[in-house]
Amino acid sequence: MSEDQTKPWAGRFTEPTDAFVEAFGASVGFDRRLYRHDIQGSIAHARMLAHVGVLSLDECDTIVDGLQGIQLDIERGEFAWLVELEDVHMNIEARLTERIGETGKKLHTGRSRNDQVATDLRLYLREEVDLIGEALSRLQLNLLALAEQEADTIMPGFTHLQTAQPITFGHHMLAWVQMLRRDQARLHDCRQRINVMPLGAAALAGTSFPIDREFTARELGFDRPAENSLDAVSDRDFVIEFVACAATLMMHLSRFSEELVMWSSAQFDFIELGDSFCTGSSIMPQKKNPDVPELVRGKSARVQGNLLTLLTLMKSQPLAYNKDNQEDKEPVFDTVDTVKGSLRVYADMVPHIAVNREQMRQAALKGYATATDLADYLVRKGIAFRDAHSVVGKAVRFGIEHGKDLAELELVDLQQFSAAIAADVFDVLTLEGSVAARDHLGGTAPRQVRAEIERLRKDLPA
Ligand code: ARG
Repeated sequence: MSEDQTKPWAGRFTEPTDAFVEAFGASVGFDRRLYRHDIQGSIAHARMLAHVGVLSLDECDTIVDGLQGIQLDIERGEFAWLVELEDVHMNIEARLTERIGETGKKLHTGRSRNDQVATDLRLYLREEVDLIGEALSRLQLNLLALAEQEADTIMPGFTHLQTAQPITFGHHMLAWVQMLRRDQARLHDCRQRINVMPLGAAALAGTSFPIDREFTARELGFDRPAENSLDAVSDRDFVIEFVACAATLMMHLSRFSEELVMWSSAQFDFIELGDSFCTGSSIMPQKKNPDVPELVRGKSARVQGNLLTLLTLMKSQPLAYNKDNQEDKEPVFDTVDTVKGSLRVYADMVPHIAVNREQMRQAALKGYATATDLADYLVRKGIAFRDAHSVVGKAVRFGIEHGKDLAELELVDLQQFSAAIAADVFDVLTLEGSVAARDHLGGTAPRQVRAEIERLRKDLPA
């Protein structure tokens, strides 16, 4: 066999592939990661061919045995991946024929690498989406435990990063759980569109063999075969959708990271991250850097970049399959690795967040966090909200001038702004009074935080 004839498609060629073009075009360096799914797809295809009588049962058994043997070889590290065989598909197919002889050459009947690669990618992504879903559950459970532990802990809530109103730390953690829960739901929804089978589309038009696509779909656990062969081989919107879900999830983790970085600074000092999740400085002996949240914040950029890569990759492609699509693998793999790594490190880190309750309380006491409570108090005494707002604004200005928080002012001082203010005003000016008063679905009251935890726990697999 001359060198170029090692390639299954070499028949119509008279010259070998340029050596650099061969290396430039090869995807086996990265798509070998799909080997299990490629073999799984091939086994189902062979069984279907036997089921409809295109292959004999013996031929099918030989092929299946051969493929299973190849999988073992790969897993033992005893498989030599060849660049001249381009990709994972041709490497495995060529080895099959080496192993089992002529029968191996029949596997590709009624199939193309175009429907094969689309199938592999869908099988791969379906599995990864499930694993990411489990990782999301684990992180949510750890956040729920922290929220429960800190259901009564008071901190300042911010808008514009300025002190706004007192909230509970548990409530703040549950906000993150809600975001992660939506991320999980988005992925779950995306999975439905992933779980559709391209096999049978062959190169682009279908095949002249009497295939049974329902059979193959069942074998592979797909919900159904794709309904249009052109679409089946060229569609990568399932990949884009997955990476869009992943980019949103990473955006959430990035925002979370930003808060953890701020809160662990000496200036905020709201939390301390476990030593095992931080690093030191080679020059400043006092430093303890929040590397994990910083890295996750940084890694969100990669996934955003991957989303843009994939959208741009697809935007001008004519139907049906184009080699451009080979460029979809690395951004998807990178996204999967980044998301799984980030979720894992976050789930591991959350139980090692030490909460500095006293410092958060002191911070909540600054910045007139209960000003809205005073306005609401005046409304209950019959004053219109807009007027109450203005009265409290004047009281805050008085406080600022005298270096005192509202709760630290004397009753007579407060009364100069409104005769409606009585001694009971101090009940609403306390932090505990303020949070406990927001006692409705979605409010920050500890009672509501506990109820929300119960609801969220029920929805998560144990
Ligand atoms: N390595 C290719 C890819 O990742 C497989 C499909 C190749 N198809 C083809 N007609 N050259 O997309």
